[in-house]
Amino acid sequence: MNTLLKLKKVNLKYQTGKETIKVLKNIDLTTKRKETISIVGESGSGKTSLIMLIAGLEKATSGKIYFQDHEITKLSEDEISNIRKKNIGIIFQSFYLIPNYSAIENVALTLELNNFKNPEKEAKLLLERFGLKHRFNNLPSQLSGGEQQRVAIARSIAMRPKLILADEPTGNLDTENSLMISNILFNYVKEEGSSLIMVTHDSKLANKAKRKIKIKDGKIK
Ligand SMILES: Nc1ncnc2c1ncn2[C@@H]1O[C@H](COP(=O)(O)OP(=O)(O)OP(=O)(O)O)[C@@H](O)[C@H]1O
Ligand SMILES: [Mg+2]
Repeated sequence: MNTLLKLKKVNLKYQTGKETIKVLKNIDLTTKRKETISIVGESGSGKTSLIMLIAGLEKATSGKIYFQDHEITKLSEDEISNIRKKNIGIIFQSFYLIPNYSAIENVALTLELNNFKNPEKEAKLLLERFGLKHRFNNLPSQLSGGEQQRVAIARSIAMRPKLILADEPTGNLDTENSLMISNILFNYVKEEGSSLIMVTHDSKLANKAKRKIKIKDGKIK
């Protein structure tokens, strides 16, 4: 089977006080292995919410979500978390690196926690691949924004996930760094045969993906 992800009539509502906000409405979406997809849409349209649902970090109010052979909408949080750890890498606009850990330690920690052999060696290889050989032992505060995002990406993909979810991965970066980070991401998924779903408001970046999805008022256009 070539299908990686399937969403069927997915709805997401948030309850704030007495008000119910319908954030995602009847989302139907099927994605294939190795596919690169960009998600665009206005602020508040539901892009991050969609990423959170796919990552299993948020629960759909109704509808079904399948990842590979798993119906994740039926699983417990622990089961979802196990599937996520093994298969999904997530990159956010803010880098969320551990401040008192070096570049190597930030990447190696994920590998260690997942009982990977030689976490430090693997972390070095990844950082080197992203042009950070000279920054192995720097703390996040001693790195530029672009360098921090490269460390964050190395950490997210350290487990070689089949699916990479990126929510405005270049949102905090200037044009030059955005270009570098997007090249790193697209080259990586091509080389590794993984799939990428990326939220971006940068149309140039969005056009790099094979498929472009537009969300408007919680619906796919
Ligand atoms: N935890 C929450 N509780 C209540 N409402 C929420 C919650 N999270 C998001 N929302 C609302 O859901 C809508 C969609 O939010 P979401 O973060 O998915 O938008 P977005 O498309 O990612 O926007 P942006 O481009 O600004 O990041 C917004 O109206 C937001 O206010
Ligand atoms: Mg968002």
